[in-house]
Amino acid sequence: AVAGEEAGDLAGRTVVVSAGGTREPLDPVRFIGNRSSGRQGVALAHAARARGARVTLVAANLDETLVAAARGAGVEVEPVETTMQLRDAVRRAAGGADVVVMAAAVADFRPASVVDAKIKKVPGSGPAPIALVENPDVLAELVRDRLRPGQLVVGFGAETGDAHGSVLEHGKAKARRKGADLLAVNAVGGGRGFGAETNDVTVLDAQGDVVAEAAGTKREVADAIWGVVTKLLPSM
Ligand code: CTP
Ligand code: CA
Repeated sequence: AVAGEEAGDLAGRTVVVSAGGTREPLDPVRFIGNRSSGRQGVALAHAARARGARVTLVAANLDETLVAAARGAGVEVEPVETTMQLRDAVRRAAGGADVVVMAAAVADFRPASVVDAKIKKVPGSGPAPIALVENPDVLAELVRDRLRPGQLVVGFGAETGDAHGSVLEHGKAKARRKGADLLAVNAVGGGRGFGAETNDVTVLDAQGDVVAEAAGTKREVADAIWGVVTKLLPSM
């Protein structure tokens, strides 16, 4: 058992968790998407529910079995597909929320236009380029707008190390840039993160300072994150 879980330390609180990966349609049959399974976000929703919270899960293209299990556990699920739909659903729910956790993998860009009939290949003429436009940064907007006074906003940052820096260095820069109260940074790629059973996160504050580290099953990581969040919530 995880400390705090039985204590119902989120009783009386309302939380919103986004999970999954947004899909940006090109035509009726094709989309641009990503590899997020949504399992870490779903684990956050279940963990919050078990600790007594009212939970809304904004579910971007989640597997039906995950949606059914969440509903069975008393989580309100709002299914969405695109980033614009996710933004609307998160903001609607966030108006009454003490905490918003953006665990979804949100597409940074979407096709500039969606055609309503299937795109055909024209033999010999090669593929047409796909023009993209930038999506709104839902997390940055939540930090800017604070849709409920005193609301805590939590982000996730999936990082790979590269020539410009380590996972943690990229995470610290992202934490400062985003300004979320907490940013849970995890390493992805090479079998880690997306789709994996376990996760390994470093929780940073808005200054980029490490406030916690958590490793284990996605449920254990979820409970560790709620443990940090409950310490920051104003008392009721
Ligand atoms: N996010 C968001 N809206 C976007 C893009 C990201 O709300 N349009 C949120 C994600 O849900 C996550 C956090 O921002 O909580 C970080 O997402 P990430 O993709 O790691 O960061 P970006 O700022 O998009 O930077 P990059 O993709 O260049 O690493
Ligand atoms: Ca991104």
